[in-house]
Amino acid sequence: MIDFNVNQETCIKCGQCVSDCPARIISMEDTTPFITEEKEALCYKCQHCLSVCPTASISILGYDPKNSVPLTGELPDSARMELLIKGRRAVRQYKQENLEPETMKQLLDVACYAPTGKNSGQVRFTVVNDRIKLIEIRDDIMAKLVKISHETGFPEGMEFFSTYVQQWEEEGTDFVFRGAPHFIIVSAPRNIVTPVEDCLIALTTFELYAQTLGVGTVWDGLAKWVISELLPEFKIRLGIPEDHVIGYTMAFGKPAVTYSRTTQHEPAGVHFVN
Ligand SMILES: Cc1cc2nc3c(=O)[nH]c(=O)nc-3n(C[C@H](O)[C@H](O)[C@H](O)COP(=O)(O)O)c2cc1C
Repeated sequence: MIDFNVNQETCIKCGQCVSDCPARIISMEDTTPFITEEKEALCYKCQHCLSVCPTASISILGYDPKNSVPLTGELPDSARMELLIKGRRAVRQYKQENLEPETMKQLLDVACYAPTGKNSGQVRFTVVNDRIKLIEIRDDIMAKLVKISHETGFPEGMEFFSTYVQQWEEEGTDFVFRGAPHFIIVSAPRNIVTPVEDCLIALTTFELYAQTLGVGTVWDGLAKWVISELLPEFKIRLGIPEDHVIGYTMAFGKPAVTYSRTTQHEPAGVHFVN
């Protein structure tokens, strides 16, 4: 039941909900938008109808359009967006403090607006919320990696881990979480259309938005490798559902470093097909 309702008094019969519906299931019945019961199952649940309606006359899935944020065109301009994208850095120096709970909530609430294939919306954020907990997890991971390094060695293709383990033993360098207070694993059910893509888009969104809240991030391939391949018991310990694939992981927190300028990139490899 998708609960598609049209306010007859305010609907101006413009047909925009009909033409913008990606599933093409809305029709004009006696000049009122309508979805037949048989077609309800085809709904993407994308809320384009609610979003496009100029008079806020459509509610669907129990969502009242009055609770949506009005889109009045006041978006960050291109220069600010450019600076945000070009100024982003992988942060590997962090303040040893937790983020404020409101900041954490804001980050996750916004990141979940990232698009998902077929609007499946099944991305799951597993977050280590407290830095002491992450230190505990890190120490357990490191103890196991030290053991592997000394006893069996790392599997083929992952031998490079032994150099990192050595740095941990000699200097206490945290190569798994880069000294960050928080860690996020983004996962999704293996059987949905685009599980890994959905996770990567969600994390990219998370990372860009994080900067505007003064939060630094680092994509964490080493941690992903550890959790997905080397020590899969941590997948269970961290509560990743068994049917989920880990899309990617990221460490984050308040940066203890400031970058003064952008890096410089070679032009993109572009091939125009004319
Ligand atoms: C998929 C991916 C995995 C990464 N894994 C790690 C990692 O495990 N540890 C780390 O310190 N940095 C990691 N990075 C960060 C890259 O090293 C970094 O993005 C790159 O050097 C460019 O620096 P910048 O992000 O500051 O522009 C990763 C980046 C990406 C995109």
